[in-house]
This record gives sequence, structure tokens and C-alpha cells, in this order.
Amino acid sequence: MTHALNYGTGCFEGIRGNWNAEQEQIHLFRMRAHYERLKQSAKMLRIEITESVDELCDITVELVQRSGFHTDIYVRPLAYKSQEFIGVQLHNLEDDLTIFVAPFGAYLNAEAGVRCCISSWQRVPDVAIPSLAKATGKYLNSAIAKSEAWERGYDEAIMLTKNGTVSEGSGENIFIVTGGRLVTPDPAEDILIGITRNTVIELARTELGIETTERPIPRSELYTAEECFMTGTAAHLSPVIEVDRTPVGNGQIGPVTRKLMDLYYEIIRGNIAIQ
Ligand SMILES: Cc1ncc(COP(=O)(O)O)c(C=O)c1O
Repeated sequence: MTHALNYGTGCFEGIRGNWNAEQEQIHLFRMRAHYERLKQSAKMLRIEITESVDELCDITVELVQRSGFHTDIYVRPLAYKSQEFIGVQLHNLEDDLTIFVAPFGAYLNAEAGVRCCISSWQRVPDVAIPSLAKATGKYLNSAIAKSEAWERGYDEAIMLTKNGTVSEGSGENIFIVTGGRLVTPDPAEDILIGITRNTVIELARTELGIETTERPIPRSELYTAEECFMTGTAAHLSPVIEVDRTPVGNGQIGPVTRKLMDLYYEIIRGNIAIQ
């Protein structure tokens, strides 16, 4: 009878812990930012999280230490309506929080590149479920799109907004490279504002001197872009080499994507520290 299981009334995060074999350490990537976003999601869903961001970080560090994994891991905090109650609402219900950790390797094959299709399913609009809340129920939209892509022989789905512009992947933000600049859908495009997305925007600017424009991206621009890639906690930074069987650029991993990948993968394993 748990409310969240019946009605999708929860919000969650995914946090990567990246194993560094030389240092024999797991590096938790941007844990604070994830817990800050969890708090924002919970606020919109009327879920009370009694722990502070600092406390949530401390609990997570202890959990990861006690789990004893010597591999890449995924931490999943989930705040949800835990009451056994029949009735569709958010108010006057008990809440709970669980955090688990599990070994977790590659989600998409970044080195091979990702082959995407445009989903026949549109992204849930912000006027239906708040885009900025990482809400469990909204992932039905992602799951339908992902399985449709898989059944059609693709690796991943790209969903459009109701206006026909590019929104995001089933679990990733999208970037294109055009005229040597990065372009990514702005927050009004029904996207989750990814922590990886924000990291890549910052890295591109500070480390490579490449600016990012946040604006609506028409579908056709995916086919004419020089490069395209996806970002996300699970997906890391994964090049998109094909959209709807049309090669992006020359169908290989492009130079800007490669530079960003090299930088990003070193940072998340704790081999390079950036201020
Ligand atoms: C729908 C969706 N968009 C974007 C992202 C990327 O967000 P982040 O980089 O914070 O993991 C995710 C993954 O969490 C997602 O599920």
C-alpha cells in the first residue's frame, strides 16, 4: 500500500562514486549539488526531508565507507510518501528517506558512441509535472521512450517538447557543437537541469575557452550539428554519433567532445583537481 509505489510520489538522486585504483579511493562526484537538488525536488512534492544537506553528505560518506566496494558505485537517495494510504494527494502523508549504494559500471558505451532516435513520445512538460523536480513518477515517460528506442534498435531516445524542439534524453541532457560553440536546451525546454550539464558548461568555458548558448534547438539541428553528446550522472559524457540513422558530423567522436571527455573522465576519478 505504500503511497509512492502506487502513485509515483517520490523524488530521488543518482550520485556516482568513481573508483580510483591507484589511490584506492572512491570519489563521490558533486554530492552536495545532488543533495541540494533533492531538497528542491522534495519541496515541490511536499516531501519533508528532516536531515540537512551536510547530514545527508555525512550519512552517504559513512554508507559508502561501510559498503566496502572497490569499484565504481552508484548512490541512490530516495525521498518518498511512505504512508500506506489510498488517495491521490501530497498533503497529510508520512514521508521517508532511503539511501542505498550499488556497484555500477558504464550505462552507455561512450567509446563506441551512442546511436539515438527521436522518440515518438514527447517529454513531460513543466506545466504537467515540474521539470526541475527529479520525481519518480515522471520516469515512466523516460522508460517508455527508452524501451521504444531499444525495440527499434537504438541505444537511446531523444525526446522533443510539445513545440517540437529538442528536450533531453531519457536520462541525459543534450549538447550540440555548432560553429565551434556549445549549444544546449535552456531550462524552459522541459529539461532536468543536470549537474553534469552544468559541470560541462563550466569546464568548457574555464578549461577550453568554449562558451555555451542555452536556447531552443530545432530537431533538424541535430542532423546538421558538427558534434553532439549527452551528459548525465549515469551516462557520464557520451558522444552521440547517429540520430535517426543519420551520422552526426562524420559519424565519429568529434574533437570538442573528445577534449571534454578527456577532461571530464580525469576529473571524476580525482586525477585532476579543478578549482
Ligand atoms: C531526465 C534526465 N535528464 C537529465 C539528467 C542528467 O542529470 P545529472 O547530470 O544531474 O545526472 C538525468 C539524470 O539524472 C535525467 O534523468
